Amino acid sequence: MAQLSQPAQNCVVQDEIQQQLAAGLLAAHAHTSPKYLYDVLGSRLFAAICELPEYYPTRTEAAIFALHAQQIAAAVGPDAILIDLGAGNCSKAARLFPSLRPRQYVAVDISVQFLEEAVSALRQQFPQIEMTCLGMDFSSELELPATLGMDRRQFFYPGSSIGNFAPLEALMFLRRIRKGIGSSGGGLLIGVDLIKDKAILNPAYDDALGVTAAFNLNLLHHVNRLLDADFRPRDWRHRAFYNSEQHRIEMHLEARNELTVHWQNGGMRRFARGERIHTESSYKYTREGFVDMLQQAGYGAVQTWCDPNNWFMVCHAQVA
Ligand code: AVJ
Repeated sequence: MAQLSQPAQNCVVQDEIQQQLAAGLLAAHAHTSPKYLYDVLGSRLFAAICELPEYYPTRTEAAIFALHAQQIAAAVGPDAILIDLGAGNCSKAARLFPSLRPRQYVAVDISVQFLEEAVSALRQQFPQIEMTCLGMDFSSELELPATLGMDRRQFFYPGSSIGNFAPLEALMFLRRIRKGIGSSGGGLLIGVDLIKDKAILNPAYDDALGVTAAFNLNLLHHVNRLLDADFRPRDWRHRAFYNSEQHRIEMHLEARNELTVHWQNGGMRRFARGERIHTESSYKYTREGFVDMLQQAGYGAVQTWCDPNNWFMVCHAQVA
């Protein structure tokens, strides 16, 4: 699945996307995958979310990396192959290069074009690090090129992206990464958002400026293009709240009135006033709960670093 797909394959992929989207919209509890939040505008809105005062994860994680850089570097070890899952603009990894000193950097993301731009700028800055771009959807399968070295593979999965998986899926994903690490001095460096007071969690996903609302509603524009649907963002409102039984933030779009949505090939659904589409879940963990999951996934020694409020955690897990 690596690199750019062929046009014929693209049609199959597009077909699958449309079927998956339509099935989700027709389910008793309508839902869409969080990956549809990220078209070009969605990615920019997410970058804006990361600047919001209410959205603590990005800056809290950055502060942990900055404060504990030396210990984190010692856990990872020098001369690693740093494999960045969901690299985006590669800025998080780049900030770690001076302390981590990897021998190779492998940036993985769905959009390979975007990666190439970011990585070519980094090559100038860090000429001693070999850099590779990989375009793939690693959430379904993790297929690394056979030519990639096996020694000291260190996976990097920051930002609490793991939170988008339900706990059982997260466990399976962590196992897949462990298999990808092999057995010669590798590991995983991962950022995890922690369970905390609703008074902190809820505003982080329902900010005063309405940036997260725009991010959520923009999914409707994206789905309109993918499915040739007729969603009108004005007919929907953003809902986000912490579900304390399931330890997750839920994001929904709620119909303001009774309405009907149509899409390609005669697809349609009627929504009652107040009916919702579940667009994202963002799971939160306790330190102990997540370390336990790493152990269940087959990792060896785990080290953790948190901020003084215990709002966010960075973990390094070794493969024994
Ligand atoms: C990218 C999945 C880590 O769950 O905090 C931010 C996405 N959604 N605000 C998160 C998100 C709404 C974010 N992750």
